[in-house]
Amino acid sequence: MDRQQHARLDELLRDPYPLYARARRAEGLTYVPELRAWLVARDADVREVLRRPDVFSSANAVRGDVVPSQAALAVLGEGIAVRRPVVITADGPAHQRLREPIVRGLTPARVAAVLPYVAERAEALADAFAAPGSGRTVDVMEAYALRLPGQVIGHVLGFDPADVPLMVRGGHSTEQLLFRPLPEEGQLAAAHDVIALQRLLDGYVRDRHAAPRPDLCSEIVTSLVPDDGDPEDGEGDPEDGGAEPELTLGQRGELIAHLQNFLLAGHLTTTALIGTTLLHLLRHPAQWKLLCEEPERIPAAIEEAARYDTALQGFRRVTTRAVTLAGTELPPGAEVLVGFGAAGRDEGRYERPDVFDIMRVPVARHVAFGLGAHACPGAQLAREQLRLTLELFTRRFPGLRLARDGPPVRMRPTLIHRAPEALYVEW
Ligand code: HEM
Repeated sequence: MDRQQHARLDELLRDPYPLYARARRAEGLTYVPELRAWLVARDADVREVLRRPDVFSSANAVRGDVVPSQAALAVLGEGIAVRRPVVITADGPAHQRLREPIVRGLTPARVAAVLPYVAERAEALADAFAAPGSGRTVDVMEAYALRLPGQVIGHVLGFDPADVPLMVRGGHSTEQLLFRPLPEEGQLAAAHDVIALQRLLDGYVRDRHAAPRPDLCSEIVTSLVPDDGDPEDGEGDPEDGGAEPELTLGQRGELIAHLQNFLLAGHLTTTALIGTTLLHLLRHPAQWKLLCEEPERIPAAIEEAARYDTALQGFRRVTTRAVTLAGTELPPGAEVLVGFGAAGRDEGRYERPDVFDIMRVPVARHVAFGLGAHACPGAQLAREQLRLTLELFTRRFPGLRLARDGPPVRMRPTLIHRAPEALYVEW
């Protein structure tokens, strides 16, 4: 994709809703050249794709928009060869094997156990940006939304808090390298961040393999390693020497890729939805006031934000055989973009779908967290972070509003972590 095409794509991604509306009205599916995919925009069609993973494979779920330069690829080549697929791009039994320990690590009871930590961290971040003498205007993306979810996912995995900044930077750089047309220098810097993240994860993988702890990283390592058995990697026999055999390069490569994917899925999305939820509440001051007066409405506000302007707007699928969807005949190997965000605005399912309204009753269930085999296993953790954030902000900053002198809000040009680039607020 050249720079002009990228510029056009960026415009589209900053506000994809008019395109979605046209695609929902059109007969059949709409092929969108900028996205190089058939857009699935109606709620019922999105659900159909998600319910048929045998026909709509996830193999291409997160295909990037750019190929890194040779120099950036050379930097990436210095790391351990990571092994794909990861959970989000796997199908069938391989997918179930990768998904199982994640689901086990994010049960409602496990999420509930993390909440005191989330509340404590959220409060500490607010203390920092609202400290006396630090002014009453802040970019809440930078000061809060970009920080909390990384700390939480690091805690869930059992990582040292000191490693979280590197982990978060590595996550953002992975996304940039795959989706943004960076200049050469930027690509190299991003590639170095990715390698640093992979080395960090490799350290955790080897450490937890040698000495498991009661954390999700250990659980993921111990549950994936026994099944990996790649004879070519020459794994030792555990009965030989008594000690845990060293992890093979293949096993380390798979675990690093898996953890990298889990981190990306877990913190960038949540950061994005925190930002977008605050944005829409503050663009509707009467609704913000209502929420401050009646905080019991917070869960409904979160669902409305997820329906109205979700973080993960679309992931891809590729057809495994010829199939007709919404009257459009797709050949084998056809790429479709599953529009989670487009489905949230479907006028056939929601009244006044383009209106943000936390009073909406009843809220028809949206697909912002997916559905079926790949449905988001972190939805509860994400919702709880949103809930604690809104409880904190409505309690401590009831006068919160968009900063009068702040720059106009611009959305990031992405379908996978839709959020304001910056969000200046004052109180
Ligand atoms: C607001 C935040 C979030 C949103 C909007 C979101 C949305 C989604 C969606 C739509 C999917 C389905 C993708 C597909 O069908 O291809 C998904 C999958 C996934 N999500 Fe989330 N997610 C969020 C937060 C989280 C968190 C906090 C975690 C982990 C702690 C997480 C982990 C995952 C994983 C591992 C998958 C892949 C599951 C699979 O392929 O089986 N997500 N997410």
